[in-house]
Amino acid sequence: MNSPQDKTRAETRTVHPPVVEVEGSRPVGVPIYQGHLFAFDDADVMAEAFGGPDGAFFYSRLGNPTVRVLEEAVADLEGGAAGLAAASGMGAINAALLALLGSGDHVIAQGCLYGATIGMLDDLAARWGVEVTYVSGSDPEQVRGALRPNTRVLYLETIANPTTQVVDLPALIAVAKDAGVLSVVDNTFASPILCRPISHGADVVVHSATKYLGGHSDVLGGVAVFATEELHRKVWHYAAELGASADPFVSWLTVRGMQTLALRMRRHCDNALDLAGRLAGHPAVASVRYPGLPDHPDHEVAVRLMPDGQGGVLAFDLAGGREAGRIFAGAVRLAALTPSFGGVKTYVLHPASTSHRQLGDEQLRTAGIGPGTIRVAVGIEHPDDLWADLEQALAKVG
Ligand SMILES: Cc1ncc(COP(=O)(O)O)c(C=O)c1O
Repeated sequence: MNSPQDKTRAETRTVHPPVVEVEGSRPVGVPIYQGHLFAFDDADVMAEAFGGPDGAFFYSRLGNPTVRVLEEAVADLEGGAAGLAAASGMGAINAALLALLGSGDHVIAQGCLYGATIGMLDDLAARWGVEVTYVSGSDPEQVRGALRPNTRVLYLETIANPTTQVVDLPALIAVAKDAGVLSVVDNTFASPILCRPISHGADVVVHSATKYLGGHSDVLGGVAVFATEELHRKVWHYAAELGASADPFVSWLTVRGMQTLALRMRRHCDNALDLAGRLAGHPAVASVRYPGLPDHPDHEVAVRLMPDGQGGVLAFDLAGGREAGRIFAGAVRLAALTPSFGGVKTYVLHPASTSHRQLGDEQLRTAGIGPGTIRVAVGIEHPDDLWADLEQALAKVG
């Protein structure tokens, strides 16, 4: 691979992903190696390829040159030793956790995690004898208190969803490190442009590349990045058996999208801060949660860990509660009513009438959601156009 970017900044390196050299020259864009099979002239070279991630490419479930570009590009941005791409964020999370855990092991996890991750941990507990203790994520002493001799993994998210909680990664990870416990951090909401958990001691970083890395709502993918080659090798062997491997074309689209990651993150953060401020002054809005606002409970941690911007997702509570939320969600025109985030377009979600409609007010509160909570995944449109849309929708809730 040719990688001219060694000493440059993240904004430059995203534009120059590593490319494979071909007979003395190299393509300027990343080529797509869509084929899944590679042939050898020598049986011994082929035998070596089976041994691990550093061998020659031979079958795309175990490695592919286009997928490798994505793996190297994300590993480079995260400051890790190596990366492993997967078919989705959940594919990357499953590969990492299933490779690192065995039955009878114990996991300490932040209580407010992405729903499917909690579902997976609960499944591991119910069916495979993995014990899970949930902690608030806001107190390192709670992590210390939860440690057991069989604790293997501390699992955190840099920015949690939809509460926008920001955990003090260095403080929590230090407790795990002291006890010889591996830390796995889902960095999807921050992206490596805003936060690099490995620099705070994390052993594994996972991403839903479906979100900011891809950036255009046209891919489903995941990447795990490892602080050491040893961890990469361990998970690579398991991932090859799991089979949730990344597709070359999807990897190509993701690398293509990543070339504007730094620009997009800057604009997501600027727009989110702008809208958060305007929403806080609107009479129909009871409260706003955005880590970039000084009254957010984790503002100090957020600015310390993410000095260049505190993310592109905010939540606010409508004074009119559940019915106001339902009306607002149906009234937006420029923003789309949809549950995801990380794309260039703005999305809104009213959990109480859609993704969490089965929960009563009390259960919603336990999940950190109010009946009138609206989540806004802020895109990169002009902020005045976005505000005009939110304002006309707010006018409809009275
Ligand atoms: C924080 C976080 N992690 C992981 C995932 C799972 O990613 P995917 O949908 O790509 O499997 C999601 C999906 O929304 C997410 O929000």
